[in-house]
Amino acid sequence: MNNAPIGVFDSGLGGLTAVREFMKILPNENIIYFGDTGRVPYGSRSKDTIKKYAFQDAKFLLKHNVKMIVAACGTVSSVATNLKNDLPVPYTGVVSPTCFTAVQATKNKKIGVIGTSATIKSHSYKKLIEEFDNSISVIEQDCPLFVPLVENGFINKDDQIVRLVIKRYLAPLMDAKVDTIILGCTHYPIIKEAISSVMGEDLTLIDSGRETALYAKNVLAEKGLLNDSNEKGRCEFYVSDTPEGFENVAGVFLGKDIEHSVEQINIELY
Ligand code: DGL
Repeated sequence: MNNAPIGVFDSGLGGLTAVREFMKILPNENIIYFGDTGRVPYGSRSKDTIKKYAFQDAKFLLKHNVKMIVAACGTVSSVATNLKNDLPVPYTGVVSPTCFTAVQATKNKKIGVIGTSATIKSHSYKKLIEEFDNSISVIEQDCPLFVPLVENGFINKDDQIVRLVIKRYLAPLMDAKVDTIILGCTHYPIIKEAISSVMGEDLTLIDSGRETALYAKNVLAEKGLLNDSNEKGRCEFYVSDTPEGFENVAGVFLGKDIEHSVEQINIELY
């Protein structure tokens, strides 16, 4: 047992969709969240820049003596694949837990993967799905407008702009008749309802946050690192740009008001 916090990071708000799932699945765990709001988006940047940012983010979390680090970011998970080897604590990204679930979910063996441009270019999800089962066809599509839409509050399923963008990006997946779509970027569960509404309710949408929280629980249990306290866990939030607005939006994403203030830090010091 270990009462140290779990460190979770993302380029911005998206990782909060994973935090929401961690709070449900591991309610007694303390969480330190870092959203790199000053440098979002990561998904349109080069590999080297994404790797550099990911290392800095992890270093910041390690300063808080976290017992595990979770990259709640499809882009970091896909590109900074060497991060795992350089950390003194257990680490997970979102790619493998999500692929595992998608492979079990598909009935017609056609899976769509949507993510940032960097994620799709890396083919991280496709490669792993094919390793699990090479009879599955994987159709990949980057959706570079989704992150700015979400970060700017365009999330309503009835908003015509949101619907049009979804329709445009997801048309090739519809044509390919996928029955399962991996939301390969942690920002996307925020528009999950809108995606379902445009694409049809029969489609299975796999939310990387939930799968990653379940996976992290297993890792912590196996290593004897679960928190044994009966008290509700605390969550601390840090960002690299002004916290203004983050608190309100975080509340929407988490489905509840955040109890502690959001602190701005200088990530370039790490
Ligand atoms: N939420 C992130 C992801 O899962 C990154 C989005 C971005 O910064 O481009 O890929």
